[in-house]
Amino acid sequence: MTAQPRHSRITGTGSFLPPRRVTNAELAAELAQRGIETSDEWIVERTGIRARHFAASDVTASDLALEASRHALESAGRKASEVDLIVLATSTPDMVFPSTATILQHKLGIAGCPAFDLQAVCSGFIYALAVADSMIRTGSARCALVVGSELFSRILDFDDRTTCVLFGDGAGAVVLEGSDTPGILATDLHADGAHRDILCTPGTVAGGKVLGDPLLKMDGPAVFKLAVHVLEASARKVLAQAGRSEADVDWLVPHQANIRIMQGTARRLKLAPQKLVATVDQHGNTSAASIPLALDVACKDGRVQRGDTVLLEGVGGGFTWGAVLLDF
Ligand code: UT7
Repeated sequence: MTAQPRHSRITGTGSFLPPRRVTNAELAAELAQRGIETSDEWIVERTGIRARHFAASDVTASDLALEASRHALESAGRKASEVDLIVLATSTPDMVFPSTATILQHKLGIAGCPAFDLQAVCSGFIYALAVADSMIRTGSARCALVVGSELFSRILDFDDRTTCVLFGDGAGAVVLEGSDTPGILATDLHADGAHRDILCTPGTVAGGKVLGDPLLKMDGPAVFKLAVHVLEASARKVLAQAGRSEADVDWLVPHQANIRIMQGTARRLKLAPQKLVATVDQHGNTSAASIPLALDVACKDGRVQRGDTVLLEGVGGGFTWGAVLLDF
């Protein structure tokens, strides 16, 4: 019997975007027909977003997750049959239950391994990666599929210009495997439910009806202020845990919500601007999918190389936040 691995390591990345790309100008024109005024200039200046992808109405989060997972498995050189754990982060699941992870498992043509959803909104992928890392290090799994998949277009209020221009659909995935060398160096997770109202989708299903408002609400400036503060603190925690310094970080791959938050975090950590991986301009905010999507883009275009030190950071509804430091 082989010894239990002491670490977990990302062995493959993958992502998927639904084909329909909507530019700011196209979205502004659609919103104008509803009497909602916005502009490409405002969206670019305040957020850095230039375009997002919206899925067709019959597409589900598990559909996007399946494509991203297939790409991640291919990049890791693994077959779906080798996966022994699926952790899927989403706030836009296929249905109330069963979990999107079990639907993904079936679509991958496998059965038997544990599969569950994890709900931490835009920090979901960081939470999922930390959980899978723990399960690998304690011997519960050896080859995990960790996925973020979202269809935020389904919960947007297109009469609210302060939120509907910000979000998009997509999925990202990594294969995380047991390894004798790191891999993941440190993880840091937090939540504070006192701030649950500043970013929420408060509706629920009861008595055969949707009760309350099922569309996303956000106090953007309140989220902005908290985000900048907690992202810096969480980054410093994982660096301290791993005995590393800011100078050791090759790539910062943060949650992609707003370029100003991302650049502010990089500045506070004294990271050179070119170390920031930003895809928010092309993807918008894809919540739990944004970090693995951005990581996959930076791997595929050759920026992130084996051995590079990568700092992943997430922040979102709950309020939740956290970071993962890893050697790629
Ligand atoms: O994914 C989870 C984490 N989420 C985040 O990190 C989001 C954090 N927050 C943000 O990114 C920013 O707060 C926003 C992008 C949401 C908003 O940017 P802001 O610079 O904080 O703008 P603001 O909310 O203070 O609004 C400024 C102005 C307001 O007009 P007045 O009151 O100054 O006349 C808004 O009504 O911009 C107006 N505005 C818009 N104008 C054109 C708000 N949305 C729009 C819009 N188009 N889409």
